[in-house]
Amino acid sequence: MKEHARQARAENRIIGLVPTMGALHRGHLALVHRAKQQCSPVIASLFVNPKQFGPKEDFAKYPRNFESDVEKFSAAGIDSLFAPDPDEMYPPVFHTYVTVEALSDRLEGRSRPGHFRGVTTVVMKLLQIVQPHFAYFGRKDAQQARIIMQMVRDLNLDSEIVVCPIIREADGLALSSRNAYLAADERRAATVLHRALTAAREELSAGVRDTLQLRTVLQRVLNSEPLAAMDYAEIVDADTFEPVARVARPCYVLLAVFFGKTRLIDNLYIEPAGPGAHEDFVYHL
Ligand code: PAJ
Repeated sequence: MKEHARQARAENRIIGLVPTMGALHRGHLALVHRAKQQCSPVIASLFVNPKQFGPKEDFAKYPRNFESDVEKFSAAGIDSLFAPDPDEMYPPVFHTYVTVEALSDRLEGRSRPGHFRGVTTVVMKLLQIVQPHFAYFGRKDAQQARIIMQMVRDLNLDSEIVVCPIIREADGLALSSRNAYLAADERRAATVLHRALTAAREELSAGVRDTLQLRTVLQRVLNSEPLAAMDYAEIVDADTFEPVARVARPCYVLLAVFFGKTRLIDNLYIEPAGPGAHEDFVYHL
């Protein structure tokens, strides 16, 4: 992969990287489409990264459909796929980890200890191997994208991180490889994430800026769904991921909710209106 990427660079081509763990859906493929608008070649990676799963998490049963993923990637028009073996990424002697402090401790990091250390370590390796001009991430994992941007800045990497909109099902459920775990009744219940975010957006439209009031609305909607067990519902500054008392600067409404054993996340991005404002499910102040 390094030799392949080196050659593209020597030809002065613009390299795009789309990192994934496979079990592909339209959310992943939207990243490929976005990459193809800016880059050639577009390189995708498919690696279920053991280091970002906790000991009690779903690494062993994470969905793996290599053949159909290859078909989906090639239909989407990627130029190459990097799908390394776990032993190649992590040989028996492996001692170096990348940790982005502060940002990795809260929210997803608090609920999933060690998760972001695994993510930043593998993404650092992928960025070193491919050295892409642009790397594409989904806003679905807003905290992950923020942490990766911080790593790129702190470690002076030469890749630009591009964050792409959340792709949803017709009923509003954000696409996720983990949606496959949901039983039929849980799948119906899971629309509560989007319903809660929509309720928060309506409050914002009515002029509400107090986050205590917004969280009350989120909790009311989530509590109305018996199969939903809230992990967190927070309104945070989009830069620091610290809770805010009032919505004034760019913020995220972040949700993490269990449906049975399946934990799903979703969010609403709130930013001031501007010429670049074009995403579907974004509230403009
Ligand atoms: P994975 O969950 O496979 O997601 C790969 C990329 O697709 C991430 O950037 C994620 O934010 C994006 N994505 C997932 N669902 C999306 C949706 N509904 N709309 C838009 N984008 C979506 O995230 C990971 O893998 C891993 O942590 C990884 C970055 C590959 C490191 O192992």
